[in-house]
Amino acid sequence: MLTSTVSAVSWEGNAAEGHCLLLDQTLLPHEELYRPYTDYVRLAAAIRDLVVRGAPAIGVAASYGVVLAAQQALKMPTGQERMAFFSRALETIALARPTAVNLKWAVERMEKVAGGKDIDPNLVTRLLEEAKTIQAEDIAGNAHMADLGAKLLEKNTTVLTYCNTGDLATGGIGTAFGVVRNGYVTGKVRHVYACETRPVMQGLRLTAWELERNKVPFTLICDNMAASLMRRNEIGAIFLGADRIARNGDVANKVGTYSLAVLAHHHRVPFYVVAPTSTFDLGLLSGEQIPIEQRSKEEILGALGSNRPTFDLPAYNPSFDVTPAALITAIVCEKGVIHGPSLDKLEALK
Ligand code: MRU
Repeated sequence: MLTSTVSAVSWEGNAAEGHCLLLDQTLLPHEELYRPYTDYVRLAAAIRDLVVRGAPAIGVAASYGVVLAAQQALKMPTGQERMAFFSRALETIALARPTAVNLKWAVERMEKVAGGKDIDPNLVTRLLEEAKTIQAEDIAGNAHMADLGAKLLEKNTTVLTYCNTGDLATGGIGTAFGVVRNGYVTGKVRHVYACETRPVMQGLRLTAWELERNKVPFTLICDNMAASLMRRNEIGAIFLGADRIARNGDVANKVGTYSLAVLAHHHRVPFYVVAPTSTFDLGLLSGEQIPIEQRSKEEILGALGSNRPTFDLPAYNPSFDVTPAALITAIVCEKGVIHGPSLDKLEALK
């Protein structure tokens, strides 16, 4: 079985005094720095600032953030203060980023364990167990999806991937990236095209780093080069992840996913989304209802370095877009492969 080669999120130590450790992804690929977190406010800020990113990894980090909040609440003198502190903390963590539903999903799951009761040392232990279970489930789900996804491929396929969906974005070996890795070792994947993924460059900085570490042959492309590769029949399949999947199968993922889906449809390239069910939001009827995070225009203008004009540059920076279910060949989740995703098929998952 394939295993992770790097851990984006982990817990060090016991429930009473332990802390969360995050690999600072803003520094990659130049520097591999692990930062300790003992304060849920700092951890929520780390989620917002992309120190940890990728929907499942955000979910795991959020669950450890809830453990930190419980540790901090224990220092309050009265039960009322502990509970008020804990409840405010959960809200802060859940709101750190709006699109990846794994964040809200993880916080709600942890909240159920807390059960609205006063925080005591036993509960902190129980919360840590639950957070570790969330991570363990993600690791197992990643491995299963990697098998299911690779089975969809013919031998020696050249695949294209987008953003980063590997160890860095999950608790385990990744979603789409797990399929790519598994496909490579089983002879299904011959070569990978990784899109650089403007503006934060998750493909150029993170996916390339992971492909290199795992010795998977790859070529980087700028996002606007995918069309001509598809026109020349050089892409056999596209695999990418998701941040939230609505009940009708519409998928929110890193901005640029939708344009790849349109291109894939035009060129008849199979378009696969790989995501665990913690990314499904069956409470939303369609992708129209998915909140799309708007990020600072500095992420776009940063490409200018110090070479800024003297006038103000307006810029639009939605971090995600929505791909309609009709453009998706299949969604691979840990429960199976949903070919031609639709309302009926996703409801059947329940
Ligand atoms: O803004 P990011 O880097 O958190 O966005 C990540 C993505 O869009 C990933 O493709 C998605 O979360 C799937 S990760 C397994």
